[in-house]
Amino acid sequence: MAEPLRLQKFLSRSGVASRRKAEEYIAQGRVKVDGKTITTMGEMITPGKQKVYFDGKEVVAEERFIYILLNKPKGYVTTLSDPQGRPIVTSLLSGIRERVFPVGRLDLNTEGALLLTNDGDLAQSTQHPSHEVTKTYEAEVKGHPTSGSIRSLAKGIMLENKMTAPAKIQVKRRGKKTSVMVITIHEGRKRQVKKMFQAIGHPVVSLKRLAYGKLGLDGLALGKFKILQQNELK
Ligand code: URA
Repeated sequence: MAEPLRLQKFLSRSGVASRRKAEEYIAQGRVKVDGKTITTMGEMITPGKQKVYFDGKEVVAEERFIYILLNKPKGYVTTLSDPQGRPIVTSLLSGIRERVFPVGRLDLNTEGALLLTNDGDLAQSTQHPSHEVTKTYEAEVKGHPTSGSIRSLAKGIMLENKMTAPAKIQVKRRGKKTSVMVITIHEGRKRQVKKMFQAIGHPVVSLKRLAYGKLGLDGLALGKFKILQQNELK
């Protein structure tokens, strides 16, 4: 018989969500064990022994983990359902039968590299600040930021009462009215890149994630995905 493990870990291992999300679902009363709703975090599960239900559906542990890199187009949400009925990223994964979820988020109008997996432990650890997964974005911004303001943005600025961590920033191209910047950060605050450029007076007009960690798009067309091999994951 399998080793007992905490309910939230069982849910993340089974591909329901990251561990943190699974904790939210438990607290919201959406998880039942053998017919009883569990809202506290201490519950231990022995896979195969108890039956676990999420939103009324039995959770069956996945036999294999899968890791997918998607080139997300604009207009897709990175949640698994959308009350407003907008298209969701997983609808682009034709032929994938595992229940994967996005690692982190990209805004509706942001395109580019998005990792999806059913491995809740990996999803959790890559989002933890101590692991510092870098994210590289190409941002087209209004106007032409000065080298001084780029330097201060790279060093760190106060954003919502917290300094941003150092970032790498380069000017890729200057157009007539806009500039194309490449920025690498390793934090994952909501709308961070847009807020950073807004803060120096150069709002983002278009945003694309070029790479998540070392996982670059490498010619992957918009809306297409590839299944990652073990060596690409390291
Ligand atoms: N920063 C943003 O502002 N938006 C994204 O989608 C990702 C990072």
